[in-house]
Amino acid sequence: MTSARSRLFQPLTIRGLTLRNRVVISPMCQYSAKDGMADAWHLVHLGQFAIAGAGLVFSEAAAVEARGRITHGDLGIWSDAHAAALKPVAAFIAAQGAAPGIQIAHAGRKASMQRPWHGNGPMNDADIARGERPWQVVAASSVPVAEGWLMPHELRLDEIAAIRQAFADAAKRADAAGFEVLELHGAHGYLTHTFLSPISNRRNDAYGGERAGRMRFALETAEAVRAVWPERKPLFFRISSVDGIEGGWEIEDSLALAGELKARGVDVIDCSSGGIGGPATAAGVPRGPGFQLPYAERLRRDAGVMTQAVGLILTPEQAEAALAAGQADLVAIAREALFDPHWVGRAALALEDEETAWSLWPKQYGWWLERRAKAMPRRSA
Ligand SMILES: Cc1cc2nc3c(=O)[nH]c(=O)nc-3n(C[C@H](O)[C@H](O)[C@H](O)COP(=O)(O)O)c2cc1C
Repeated sequence: MTSARSRLFQPLTIRGLTLRNRVVISPMCQYSAKDGMADAWHLVHLGQFAIAGAGLVFSEAAAVEARGRITHGDLGIWSDAHAAALKPVAAFIAAQGAAPGIQIAHAGRKASMQRPWHGNGPMNDADIARGERPWQVVAASSVPVAEGWLMPHELRLDEIAAIRQAFADAAKRADAAGFEVLELHGAHGYLTHTFLSPISNRRNDAYGGERAGRMRFALETAEAVRAVWPERKPLFFRISSVDGIEGGWEIEDSLALAGELKARGVDVIDCSSGGIGGPATAAGVPRGPGFQLPYAERLRRDAGVMTQAVGLILTPEQAEAALAAGQADLVAIAREALFDPHWVGRAALALEDEETAWSLWPKQYGWWLERRAKAMPRRSA
């Protein structure tokens, strides 16, 4: 392989791990697991992105306990059997030269939802008729997502401790399953976010009140996980950088949180936004190409953390410009990778000279495509 000239294809070393480039496949729930178990769908779905050349491939949010699933179809990592089912997925991704990553999560008050294609709201009679029953959801406080949503049970202190432990146990299993990067999901209105945001946290004990109290669950979880996640392996944390709702979590809060997470051994802050007030992630946050880049930029500059940018990053040029401008260290692609799983290979053709670009394709594909391109000079592939 010849050396790349673009920033997107520069390797990045974090702790003991070197990523081959800066392209990350963002966590994307498939709502296709049975009882939380990974199967051939997850292997092929995630495997395709590793074949295609991404630097880091994240699995979808894997629930640390059964009631922490968003839907009946979410992945789980609450038992050793779940970890065993994920092992071939991690091994395949690593065998293609990508780093296997996993996001671990608890959906909190946004658990017990319908799969998106069944309505994307709280479960109803149609779901029960399909054999999928709702369950009791939990949160920082007994405040539902919105009218008509399930009333969450406010977690007691002993229950908070148990969920913190569930995160640590999930991290140990993720390590045993062969994952190299772990991401804690602290965004999109799920459990950790319900502690962080004043919109959803009405507690008046040590886990509520002022920002320091609201951050306690996130920080304790990060500490518990870092204590068991191997020193040489990177730890990421996804935040909703802003709630986008009057009286909600603001970018200054994210700056404070990022600093505290960094002090506890979190390596990369993954900068998303929104989700506290409804099913959509970005309720209240105007969306356009690269709309969350300013958050990644601000946190990188003012909190001195590595950041991962995500959100409507569509073209290789846009990703390259974000890295060149110092807005982020890593660029995560979600829906555009569903649209074009070979986004990375196309980015190589757009940003690199031809010889380098084809060397960045998997040889099983690149050998043929390079020859075809040369025989038909007016096509790039
Ligand atoms: C099908 C789908 C599933 C998603 N599941 C997750 C998830 O499990 N965890 C998460 O943090 N974000 C999830 N997201 C959000 C994406 O990771 C990403 O932040 C968002 O789609 C914006 O990036 P994009 O514009 O490149 O799609 C999901 C998005 C999609 C489209």
